[in-house]
Amino acid sequence: MGEVSKNVSLKQFNTFGIEVQTNSFVEVNSIDKLKEVLKNNQSEILILGGGSNILFTKDFAGLIIKNNIKGIDVVDENDNEITLKVGSGEVWHDFVIYCVNRNYGGIENLSLIPGTVGACPIQNIGAYGVEVKDVIESVEAIDIKELTTISFSNKICEFDYRSSIFKTSAKGKYVITSVIFNLSKNPKINTSYGAIEDELKKTGVLKPSIIDVSNAVINIRKSKLPNPNEIGNAGSFFKNPTVSFAKKIQLLSEYPSMPNYLQKDGSFKLAAGWLIETCGLKGLQKGNCGIHKNQALVLVNYGGSSGNEILKLSEEIIEKVKSKFGVELEREVNII
Ligand code: FAD
Ligand code: EPU
Repeated sequence: MGEVSKNVSLKQFNTFGIEVQTNSFVEVNSIDKLKEVLKNNQSEILILGGGSNILFTKDFAGLIIKNNIKGIDVVDENDNEITLKVGSGEVWHDFVIYCVNRNYGGIENLSLIPGTVGACPIQNIGAYGVEVKDVIESVEAIDIKELTTISFSNKICEFDYRSSIFKTSAKGKYVITSVIFNLSKNPKINTSYGAIEDELKKTGVLKPSIIDVSNAVINIRKSKLPNPNEIGNAGSFFKNPTVSFAKKIQLLSEYPSMPNYLQKDGSFKLAAGWLIETCGLKGLQKGNCGIHKNQALVLVNYGGSSGNEILKLSEEIIEKVKSKFGVELEREVNII
C-alpha cells in the first residue's frame, strides 16, 4: 500500500470545509486497487466520494479511501432505452450532463447535485420531483470483509425517501463500485415541481427538451442554494418530516399557510425549512456557523467552524422545532 499518506487534512475533501485530519488516506482508481487496499488494512474505514453529505466532528483515526473509480459503459441498448454501467467515482453532475447531451432521459431533474455516482443510491438522491431510484437497475459493490462482488437489484436496495439499505442494515459493509442505470431514449419531461414550470416560462421555453429542464433546475438551484465553494455546507441538513393526518390538521388550525404534501401511505410531509424559518431562525449566525439566509434547511460554515459547533446548532434547531410544533427533525447529513 505504497500510496497511503499519513495525517492528511480533510478540509478540501468535505464541502462543509471542516478542518480535521485523518490518520491515513488513500485514493483508489480501480477495483483491483480497492481490493488490495482493503486486504492490507486493519483499521476503521471510511469511503469518501465528494464529501458533500458528511459532517466531520473529530479527527478520523482510521483509513479514508477516496473513491476515484471511473468509466461509463453501455451494457444494453434498444430504440427506446439504454442501460449504462457507471464507475462510482464519476462526478454525479458530469454524468447528468453526459446523459442530457445524448438525450438519455431520467436524471435531468437531478442536475447540479454535488457528489459522486457511487453515493447516489446511498440516500436515494432526489430533487425537483425525481428520485434516482426510478432509474437505478442495480448497484455493484465489494463486501469490505469478504472482498467478494455483490450485485444489489433495485428491489434489494430498499429505496425510500433519502434512504436505502446502504444507510440501514448494509451500512458500512460495502464499497459501491458501480451503478447500473436504465435511461430513456424517448424522454418524458417532468415539470411537476412548480418552480420548473415558472423558470421555463421566465426563459420563454414552450416545448422543453431535457436540456431545457436541466438548465431550469440549474438556475433554480443556483438562486436558492449556497455554493459550497463559497460557503461551506452539505445541502439540506435535515430530512423533511412526515406527520399523521390528525397532526397536520392540528398544525394547520394554528398555521393555515403551512406547506404540506400528501404521501402515498396517507401521511403528510412537512417542509423542514418552513418549520425552522417559522421558529425565527432563518439567517441566524452563531459563532462561525449558522442557518442560511435563503434556505433555512441548509446549515453553513462561514469559515473556521468546527463540526461540533454545527452539530450543536443542529441540536438547538431540533429542540426549538420540537417545542414549537411537536415535530421531531431527523438529520440527513452523515455525522462522523
Ligand atoms: P459523501 O459525502 O462523500 O459520502 C456520503 C456517505 O456515503 C458517507 O457515509 C460515505 O462513507 C458513503 N459513501 C460515499 N461513497 C461511497 C461508496 N462508493 N461506497 C460506499 N459508501 C460510500 N442531496 C439530495 O438528495 N438532493 C439534493 O438536492 C441535494 N442537494 C445538495 C446541495 C448541496 C449544495 C450540497 C452540498 C449537497 C446536496 N445534497 C443533495 C447532498 C449530497 O450531494 C448527496 O447526498 C450526494 O449523493 C453525496 O455524494 P458524495 O459523493 O459527496 O458523498
Ligand atoms: N421553505 C420555507 N423556508 C425556507 C425553505 C423552504 O418556507 O427557508 C418552504 C418553501 O417555501 C416551500 C417548501 O419549504 O414551500 C419546500 O422548499 P424547497 O422547494 O426549497 O425544498 P426543500 O423541501 O427545502 C427539498 C430537498 C432538497 C431538494 C429540494 C428540491 C430534502 C431534505 N431536501 O428541499 O434536497 O433539492 O427539495 O426538490 O428533501 C438535499 O437533500 O440536500 C437537498 C438540497
